[in-house]
Amino acid sequence: MAESAAIRVELGERSYEVAVGSGNMETAASLVHRLNPEARVAVVTDENVGELYGESLLAALDAAGHEAGMVMMDAGEESKSVHALAELWDSFAGMGLDRKGIVAALGGGVVGDAAGFAAGTYMRGVDYIQVPTTVLAQVDSSVGGKVAINIPAGKNMAGLFYQPKGVIADVLTLRTLPQREVKAGLAEVVKYGIIWDADFLGYLEENAEAILALEPEAAAKVVRRSVEIKAEVVGNDETEQGLRRILNFGHTLGHALENAAGYGTYLHGEAVAWGMAVAVRLSSELGMLAYEDAERITGLLSKLCGIPTPAGIDAGAIVEGTRRDKKAMAGRVNYVLAEGAGRVVVRNDIDEALVRKAVEGHVSRG
Ligand code: NAD
Ligand code: GLY
Repeated sequence: MAESAAIRVELGERSYEVAVGSGNMETAASLVHRLNPEARVAVVTDENVGELYGESLLAALDAAGHEAGMVMMDAGEESKSVHALAELWDSFAGMGLDRKGIVAALGGGVVGDAAGFAAGTYMRGVDYIQVPTTVLAQVDSSVGGKVAINIPAGKNMAGLFYQPKGVIADVLTLRTLPQREVKAGLAEVVKYGIIWDADFLGYLEENAEAILALEPEAAAKVVRRSVEIKAEVVGNDETEQGLRRILNFGHTLGHALENAAGYGTYLHGEAVAWGMAVAVRLSSELGMLAYEDAERITGLLSKLCGIPTPAGIDAGAIVEGTRRDKKAMAGRVNYVLAEGAGRVVVRNDIDEALVRKAVEGHVSRG
């Protein structure tokens, strides 16, 4: 498959490119080399991804003349912790990474968030690149510079806006990803269609089977269009003062579900798919979204991602949880609501009783 031009995230002196390809993972070594031919490199990864792709990235870095070492994290959300962060700093120091050193985050959103935060704080900030290997990381977390760890007070509560120097997304790496993770990541893809691009929603509907099978052409198209949309939004609002809030479509409710169900019950993308389904219902009940559009979006979510029906979770607890959202301002919860396929608006005046009714439509009492 021919490689297409990289997507530029336009942020002045912090601008960078996202290369989406098929079999291009090792070009991360040339990117590092262009950034600094002398750099020592820490490849941060987790046990699953390290085993699959770590050695070939190290070999490519070695061939490009770099001293490089692998820093292995445990797989899973627990690695976004203060403890794991301290271990990353120690590993960087132990391998002699200096201020000209480069961190390469090879893995999913957990590795990207933790390694990016570690890079942003080690020696007051060293350069890093993202080499995302999950659907979620390729279409969302590797682009835009949000890096964070979790603390007891909440998820992603300690973090930075710290942009990478480049992103290399190789869709072939997605073929080893468990199907549950693929479907969860596709929730963010459907999100881009709903918030920004009705034509893209149509493409997702028409090519659902090829996308779920991760056929290289379909996978590359989906990752590419998602990154283009995210790049445009982030390029206009890097630090989420306004427009970037639309990327939270389904997230306020999704985070509240993750919390109410207990972290780990649902994957992030599964909870977001559920949150989007509730937001669509709410938009429709508010008379903002035509019934046919609501049906169409919900159908696509079911097909590509699956919408969980949480059982035994009190709708009130979920609504209560939305008030603790980091993005709530002065006690008012921001809801991103759909006005049509490809068009959303942010509202902070939504009656909680209506939210509860929409939530109740998507939980089972059992
Ligand atoms: P993850 O990083 O935990 O990866 C999921 C699982 O897949 C892990 O077990 C991992 O080892 C494995 N894996 C990764 N790539 C693989 C591959 N190619 N083949 C086989 N196995 C592979 O999960 P995720 O969904 O990528 O990321 C979730 C995290 O991303 C959350 O912590 C969330 O808060 C964060 N996030 C951040 C942003 C942001 O803007 N920074 C946006 C969305 C989500
Ligand atoms: N994942 C939402 C954002 O990057 O703003």
